[in-house]
Amino acid sequence: MTTPDLFDAPPPGPDQARVAELHSLLHHHAHRYYVLDEPEIPDAEYDRLFRELQAIEAAHPELVTPDSPTQRVGGKPLAQFASVRHAVPMLSIRTETDTEASGAEAFDARVRRELDLGETEPAVEYVAELKFDGLAINLRYEQGVLVQAATRGDGEVGEDVTQNIRTIGQIPLRLPEGVPAVLEVRGEVYLRRDDFNALNERQREKGEKTFVNPRNAAAGAVRQLDPAIAAQRPLSFFTYGLGEVTPGAVQVASHFAWLQLLKSWGFPVCDHVVIARGAPDLIAFHRRMGELRDSLPYDIDGVVYKVNRLDLQQQLGFVTREPRWAVAHKYPAQEMLTTVQAIEIQVGRTGKLTPVAKLAPVFVGGVTVTNATLHNEDEARRKDVRIGDTVIVRRAGDVIPEVVAVLPEKRPPGAEMFTMPHTCPVCGSAAVREEGEADYRCTGGLFCSAQRKQAILHFAHRRAVEIEGLGDKLVDQLVDSGVVNTLPDLYRLGLTALASLERMADKSAQNIVEALEKSKQTTLPRFLFGLGIRHVGEATAKALARHFGKLDAIMDASEEQLLQVADVGPVVAQSIRTFFEQPHNREVVEQLRACGVTWEEGEPAPIEVQPLAGKTFVLTGTLPTLSRDQAKDMLEAAGAKVAGSVSKKTDYVVAGAEAGSKLEKAQALGVKVIDEAGLIRLVNPDAA
Ligand code: IVH
Repeated sequence: MTTPDLFDAPPPGPDQARVAELHSLLHHHAHRYYVLDEPEIPDAEYDRLFRELQAIEAAHPELVTPDSPTQRVGGKPLAQFASVRHAVPMLSIRTETDTEASGAEAFDARVRRELDLGETEPAVEYVAELKFDGLAINLRYEQGVLVQAATRGDGEVGEDVTQNIRTIGQIPLRLPEGVPAVLEVRGEVYLRRDDFNALNERQREKGEKTFVNPRNAAAGAVRQLDPAIAAQRPLSFFTYGLGEVTPGAVQVASHFAWLQLLKSWGFPVCDHVVIARGAPDLIAFHRRMGELRDSLPYDIDGVVYKVNRLDLQQQLGFVTREPRWAVAHKYPAQEMLTTVQAIEIQVGRTGKLTPVAKLAPVFVGGVTVTNATLHNEDEARRKDVRIGDTVIVRRAGDVIPEVVAVLPEKRPPGAEMFTMPHTCPVCGSAAVREEGEADYRCTGGLFCSAQRKQAILHFAHRRAVEIEGLGDKLVDQLVDSGVVNTLPDLYRLGLTALASLERMADKSAQNIVEALEKSKQTTLPRFLFGLGIRHVGEATAKALARHFGKLDAIMDASEEQLLQVADVGPVVAQSIRTFFEQPHNREVVEQLRACGVTWEEGEPAPIEVQPLAGKTFVLTGTLPTLSRDQAKDMLEAAGAKVAGSVSKKTDYVVAGAEAGSKLEKAQALGVKVIDEAGLIRLVNPDAA
């Protein structure tokens, strides 16, 4: 079957032809999405087509047919799973894509009109929630026991995925005494971003297909026929509603009260649920969550507003398959389509060659994206990105934008497969990929101007010696004009040399000179980190400085001595040795010192003061004040190891807000769980 062509403008002609075309497109993509879990286009694109059809049908009701994609939600269940007819249909929800305040205002105005509320009557009470980007599940409990879990399917009939859902630790299998005889709880199954990344990492290691996004990975897991495989995908769950409930079993008057009750019965309810009065509160929630979106540990695609009082919900009722009492208010899409204009090779500080797709500018995840990394040769091959390709670009959270998939049917004829160059595009030296390595590296070393530039930028970085104002444009100019070749050259720059550079104002030149002067007074860890020794990050630089106290001791340390530093393994030790064995590297250090770069040297640490040596920690959730990197640095400096997943060998789990499956696992295994304050006490036993 060939894929219909979506992206060309609709052919001129009667609406009827376009309607037929939209039917076939939407059916095709709904099948890819719901049945195969392999969408070819981003949701935003699907939504756009869907809305186009809705608009035509609104203008020409005579064109609405019973099989129109607007007349049903979702797709057919797979033959392999048993079908489940929902006792209460699983509705869809009206969506406002307008990201401005008007989305909330329009909803509030509609609700007030339907309820016949005059202007003088008080604000309607709503519950505002997050719109999780996963898949909807109905959990059926009879006499307090989970008897069935089903997907939404087409809203009337879903699939029985009980086996797979049982593997989700957050979902209670048995409820406390006193719950209604029949209780159906609805919510979203999703994958946290860290779990998604770890899953893809494992897939990559195994040489298997990676998942496009957390939602697809979650959907794939839920609809995995082998529950053993499903169990390996660490799914999470949030509760947001109800299906069938034995009438009169509980006295609850509002949606919010229901959520509290469900929470008390052991269902996970998201913390970001608030009661909102009137449109202004809804708008504020939408804005606040929009700001929080990137830092949440899971994907959301919007927020949901629901009328809180159940009697009012009843009064409002439904239009077709959508309740009048709820609406989804979306955020800008995190996945969009664009085209690849070129594939460039960037040369990093250590000579690493990274293929980067240059994209036609596209607004995704709230920013305009023009570049997306293709990581390395294997990754670029796996995705088979070619110049001219139409691709799905994703930017979620604060992660760098990524090309997640290519639309092969949009490929221009004759587009050639990408190959990594075997010479450095900057200096022409040979580029080699060592056995067992993922990356090609330029062998030019500091002969390569790209490596020189990166080395200078790294040295000037704010976490290294920090030379304020020395950015990539200026470094390009300095290196390209031959004024700066080595790090010490920086400190030989005079005001005249700087001011004579193109587009350099006297004042800016003066600022750079001052910043250079200021950077001379630094610390040993910053200086060491700034040298850019391979495998020596900030934490290692700090550990080395603490252990040896003086730079000369580090420069002259044998591999054996280096190995005594906690966290320095054979690879790192070897890399440090190799670096300081090179006469030109020693020369650079001497010249920097001669130029006046200085720091206070310390005494070697008598014995390792490492309160947490040998202990393994796992971090999960958002800590109140420390970023994940800061917490990791602190732990590593204290000698601890920080691991990605919880096992019996884990000594402590540090849990913050929204901690998920890792916390559950810790509890299940009886691993000690501490909070940020506990972590600080452990790292700093004397301070307490
Ligand atoms: S309420 C009658 N609340 O969005 C209202 N849905 O069409 C039923 N979703 O696929 C849905 N987060 O899985 C509701 N807090 C939330 C939600 C939510 C995500 C999904 C749901 C469904 C779609 C609604």
